[in-house]
Amino acid sequence: MKRSASNLTLVLFFVVLTFVMTAGVVLAWETFARDPFFSYVDRTYPGEENRRRRRDIQQRVEHFVISMLVDAVVVTLLLRLVDRKQRAVIESEERYRALFEHASDGICVASATDHRVTEANSKFCEILGRSPSQVIGRDVRELMRPTDDCPPAAALAEMLEGRSSGECEFVANGASGAELPVAVSFNTLSANEERLIILIVRDLSASKRLEADREQIRQQLYESGKLASLGELSAGVAHEINNPLNGIINFAQLLKDEQTERTPFERQLIDGIIEEGERIATIVRGLLAFARHDTHQLDEVSLAEVVSSSLSLFGRQFHKDAIRVETDIPADLPPLRADASRLRQVVVNMLSNAHHALKAKRSEDKLFRISARAVERGGRPFVRVEFYDNGVGIRQEDLGKVLDPFFTTRRDSGGTGLGLSISFGIIRDHGGTIFAEGAAGEYARFVVELPAAAPGEEVESAHA
Ligand SMILES: Nc1ncnc2c1ncn2[C@@H]1O[C@H](COP(=O)(O)OP(=O)(O)O)[C@@H](O)[C@H]1O
Ligand SMILES: [Mg+2]
Repeated sequence: MKRSASNLTLVLFFVVLTFVMTAGVVLAWETFARDPFFSYVDRTYPGEENRRRRRDIQQRVEHFVISMLVDAVVVTLLLRLVDRKQRAVIESEERYRALFEHASDGICVASATDHRVTEANSKFCEILGRSPSQVIGRDVRELMRPTDDCPPAAALAEMLEGRSSGECEFVANGASGAELPVAVSFNTLSANEERLIILIVRDLSASKRLEADREQIRQQLYESGKLASLGELSAGVAHEINNPLNGIINFAQLLKDEQTERTPFERQLIDGIIEEGERIATIVRGLLAFARHDTHQLDEVSLAEVVSSSLSLFGRQFHKDAIRVETDIPADLPPLRADASRLRQVVVNMLSNAHHALKAKRSEDKLFRISARAVERGGRPFVRVEFYDNGVGIRQEDLGKVLDPFFTTRRDSGGTGLGLSISFGIIRDHGGTIFAEGAAGEYARFVVELPAAAPGEEVESAHA
């Protein structure tokens, strides 16, 4: 409607223009050129016999000049107008193209009938890891597939056919087979009778990663909070038990030392009381160690030395049970800021657990490996130590429990479930972290991260 109105204005404008131009040219012709030209013709073809010829020449030239001039001016104006309109269209097209190309989201336009991509910007190709030629002409449904978060197939089909708009999560299929979570919003566009769909695609992998990291930190905080309160509880219980326990052991010792005739059975009972009492005392000491927050002297400690001294204790047993032991500790690994004897306790716990796990496995290939790397955590130097073994492994559902006090799967073979919780307490006091990975029947890996001694840093006492 608007367009035909503006066309009419344009036609009217040119009618008026042509009229005015004609009038102007006629006026100019009559004023300046008509008389000189007519007399020139009269002079050139004189006499009565040339009368008709003179009239023909004068009239034809007059018509020709007037219409030529009018046409030349009007056509020039018309061309300039067309040119201006064309430039405006090109500029606007360029602006939109730039907007399309430089958008921070991937944009693609596809036909609503056969879903083939007709246009895609470079971000879209980048997200999919494909070249434009691998995208244009392809069916949108080949480029990405819906996830469980998507609405049902019927609703999805409506969006693809451009009958409704909406947003949902997809997995983009990259050219190299890589998969990427993306948010896709569908919009409809009608152009020249053809229905098109516009897909705006945003890469979700970074935000997904962030979410996973956050979840892991939340889980770690929860774990350490749970362990801290368990530690306090067990320390309280251990304190309460310690005194009566010492009483029991001492009384039994007194009975044993008494100069009285006893039957062998009585002597066996008394020894039993002392032995079992000592066993409880060991557990209580472990509990107290788990909860202890003492001040310890932190020195620069070489991990390689701690590992080799611990292995010299256990190495023979590993050898006896045909277990390969590998260590991969770089010579230039920075020293740890640690209490050497407590750190050795952690390493010995790991050795002992791995030894049990490997011994319990019926297999020829038994491997225990300690490896270490320098890493950075929050801008500070850390050392990451991994204790790996391919023994009985850890079941998925136990991974979150192995650090808990009293969690053990080896109760029959004397497990107390305190080794890892004590190790956890020690590592925490050093400002480090520990977590477990593994799969049942395959492997167990304990990853410990401890602060390294920064070069030139004052060694201080930790007060955890
Ligand atoms: N290397 C390992 N391989 C498989 N499971 C392990 C390993 N280390 C620890 N575990 C699991 O963690 C539990 C707790 O370990 P820990 O605290 O040292 O107690 P304990 O050795 O007395 O059972 C173990 O009972 C075992 O189930
Ligand atoms: Mg243990």
